[in-house]
Amino acid sequence: MRESHVNTSEQAPTQNQALLDWVEEVRGHCDPETVHWCDGTREEADRLFAEMVDKGHAVRLNPEKRPNSYLFRSDPRDVARVESRTYICSIAKDDAGPTNNWEDPTRMIDRLQPLFEGCMRGRTMYVIPFSMGPIGSPISQIGIEITDSPYVVVNMRIMTRVGDPVLEALGPDGFFVRCVHSVGVPLVDGQEDVPWPCDPENTCIAHFPEKRLIWSYGSGYGGNALLGKKCFALRIASVMARDNDWLAEHMLILGVENPEGRKAYVTAAFPSACGKTNFAMLIPPREMKGWKVTTVGDDIAWLKPGPDGRLRAINPEAGFFGVAPGTSESTNPMAMASCSRDTIFTNCALTDDGDVWWEEMTDAPPNHLIDWKGEDWTPECGRLAAHPNSRFTAPAENCPIMDEAWEDPAGVEVGAMIFGGRRMTEIPLVYQAFNWQHGVYLGATMGSEQTAAAEGKVGSFRRDPFAMLPFCGYNMGEYFIHWLKMGKKIKDPPRIFHVNWFRRDEEGNYLWPGFGQNMRVLRWIVARVYGQGHSVETPIGWMPRYEDLDWRGNDFTEEQWDELMAIDRDGLKLSTLGHEELFLKLFDRLPKELIFERELLIARF
Ligand code: OXD
Ligand code: MN
Repeated sequence: MRESHVNTSEQAPTQNQALLDWVEEVRGHCDPETVHWCDGTREEADRLFAEMVDKGHAVRLNPEKRPNSYLFRSDPRDVARVESRTYICSIAKDDAGPTNNWEDPTRMIDRLQPLFEGCMRGRTMYVIPFSMGPIGSPISQIGIEITDSPYVVVNMRIMTRVGDPVLEALGPDGFFVRCVHSVGVPLVDGQEDVPWPCDPENTCIAHFPEKRLIWSYGSGYGGNALLGKKCFALRIASVMARDNDWLAEHMLILGVENPEGRKAYVTAAFPSACGKTNFAMLIPPREMKGWKVTTVGDDIAWLKPGPDGRLRAINPEAGFFGVAPGTSESTNPMAMASCSRDTIFTNCALTDDGDVWWEEMTDAPPNHLIDWKGEDWTPECGRLAAHPNSRFTAPAENCPIMDEAWEDPAGVEVGAMIFGGRRMTEIPLVYQAFNWQHGVYLGATMGSEQTAAAEGKVGSFRRDPFAMLPFCGYNMGEYFIHWLKMGKKIKDPPRIFHVNWFRRDEEGNYLWPGFGQNMRVLRWIVARVYGQGHSVETPIGWMPRYEDLDWRGNDFTEEQWDELMAIDRDGLKLSTLGHEELFLKLFDRLPKELIFERELLIARF
């Protein structure tokens, strides 16, 4: 254990002067009691967990039921990402664009500096060296998160690769993204800590894209605090990707292997909480013998042309920060296996025998629980036992179907990209874009009905281009331009598809069973990648007919299929006019190719 009280650089396990200077500068402002350089070892995590359990800030779960696992309960005011307090502080307002909150970087620093001054008093300042992506991969990047939250440290150790090997890879003059985080509750005059310190009134998550710098204050939850994830791997990385001809995307990555052993990799972008983790860990129906899905990642993909010019992807993360409610042995047995041990649970309910529970985990709820607020709960009480955005932080290596190449520094070659969202009406199950440019149009105009992953009205529709609306670190119009440009830089670009697992009939019933049955759609998609699957041309793209899908073991009828795939020309035409709203907002940076695609689409109707 390396702790120091005065001069951090003395015991610091790095020669990187820029890093040493920066840590010293942050220490000077935040004024912690001690500085701890995280080495990422199991012993270090065990010690931090033990300290948190001792203080009553965490519950150690029954080791027979959930080995090496812990439950945390957040402050009820700090339960999700707060997009309204998330800022892109580019020098020019136009560079953040109309879809981001912007603040002038100097003014933001002026606003944050007083908050950070002395904010870590009485606490330990942890320095976490982490790698996004396999250490040494040409696609990976290094970050350093400074935080006063031990909860963040143990989560980062699961979600990223942490510790000394990262500092070795960084070397004496390597580049790193700077991430500063504080819960914003200094402990002065012997003041006692609370289980979940936070400062909701002053919460602010600020990104400085030109400086590759993140400052996050006041929240300890998820993407607000685990800065490797949304802040770095999406917001800052999207800017780095634009500047260096790659892509940082809100996409899962999976492998599809056919019975002959031929494998294709597919990425998919869905807005938050549309079942990305479920899709990434799909179990094919038993009857589709020999078909296999493997997982590379469930949330974020970094994509870069490889030496042969073809697009390759890595998962920059090393764990899953999954939404717990709804996850069960029937909906996602692989996620259940992933969080069966070595897992951090946040805002789940506690069972009487020291395990966790959440809504829909089992058919019948237990008779008694301690709910996510720490209160007694019974099935009759009328409250939710787990918060709708309760989470598990589980190591990817626990997932039984991780792809053999998931840590390959070269990445995996991407054959197809899927866009989709939660759409109750109009949007058919699946269709294929005519070409890359049309695919970019599909990505740009996608959207979803809202869930609880972020603040916002549950059920309302929000247009969410590329599922990046809350995560694109620069002007969305320019982001579209970047995507169009990448189509020309990639050799044999991936085929692009749109899916909707959530279409409903007039009574509100889902028309498609989803989950493992999505394998039937995947099979068609992969066939298209191989230049084999049949399809028909429609105004919105290439669509499979009923007979183009593998229906073995499923009695889905042609009538059901027709309802699921129906194209309501008038309805779609009307919603296409709705694209105008986004386009007008982005007018000054909107590529004309997208306006052209829209005109073509309307003409086809
Ligand atoms: C998430 C999200 O992955 O909100 O948590 O997208
Ligand atoms: Mn996500």
